[in-house]
Amino acid sequence: MIYGRRRGKGKRNKNLEIIKSQLPKHSINLQNISRASDLKSYFSNRVEEVWLEIGFGSGEHLTSVSEAHPKVGFLGIEVYEDGIAKTLKQISKLGISNIKLINEDANNIIFLLPPKSITKIFLLFPDPWPKKRHAKRRFVNTENLNQLARIMHSGGELLFATDHNDYLSWSLEQFMSTTLFKSENLDQNSWKNQPNGWFSTRYEQKAIEAGRSPKYLKFLKNDI
Ligand SMILES: C[S@@+](CC[C@H](N)C(=O)[O-])C[C@H]1O[C@@H](n2cnc3c(N)ncnc32)[C@H](O)[C@@H]1O
Repeated sequence: MIYGRRRGKGKRNKNLEIIKSQLPKHSINLQNISRASDLKSYFSNRVEEVWLEIGFGSGEHLTSVSEAHPKVGFLGIEVYEDGIAKTLKQISKLGISNIKLINEDANNIIFLLPPKSITKIFLLFPDPWPKKRHAKRRFVNTENLNQLARIMHSGGELLFATDHNDYLSWSLEQFMSTTLFKSENLDQNSWKNQPNGWFSTRYEQKAIEAGRSPKYLKFLKNDI
């Protein structure tokens, strides 16, 4: 079940054309993915590890971080087609070869990924679904945290950012109710500090301009 927008209204045909012509060479055929796959082998350049960004929006963070880490393969999952088209344009403009995109609902993809295949996960400003009756749509939930822990290497990092206080409390509860992760920055004063080597996201910029204060939390996958 997909909640929220999958398609924008403007430029729809143009974006669909870009997706049709360019996504196949920058994507992974989902039928080829199994829990026994070696994710590194999907990248044409030799990569030493694979990082994952879930809900990358228009791809500003994904493309910047991939350029800064050429030996890392990046897997980006985004359900919104306009975001996929914008990211494809950037990939082509910048000649990026270490990103693979999946245009799907991440809830349906993470359980397909191989165990201990991901070193770092970015979950940046996921949709907060502020209404109580929509809380079950939130990406941070027990089932997804179990899956994310399964696909991460021990000691791997999960970076979570939000500008929404209820979602922050909700997410902390979910992370604290499992032994699969431990927090790297429990001191609340540190949550407002952008992590080292940070690249801004579009949503983050909008939140700051609107006077909201994003929080950045880092969790480590426990060695279980
Ligand atoms: C608030 S936006 C943040 C986008 C980006 N991370 C940023 O900070 O600019 C949330 C993004 O997550 C995407 N999204 C929401 N649910 C998703 C899901 N289940 N799977 C993949 N992407 C999802 C939305 O399409 C949207 O682009």
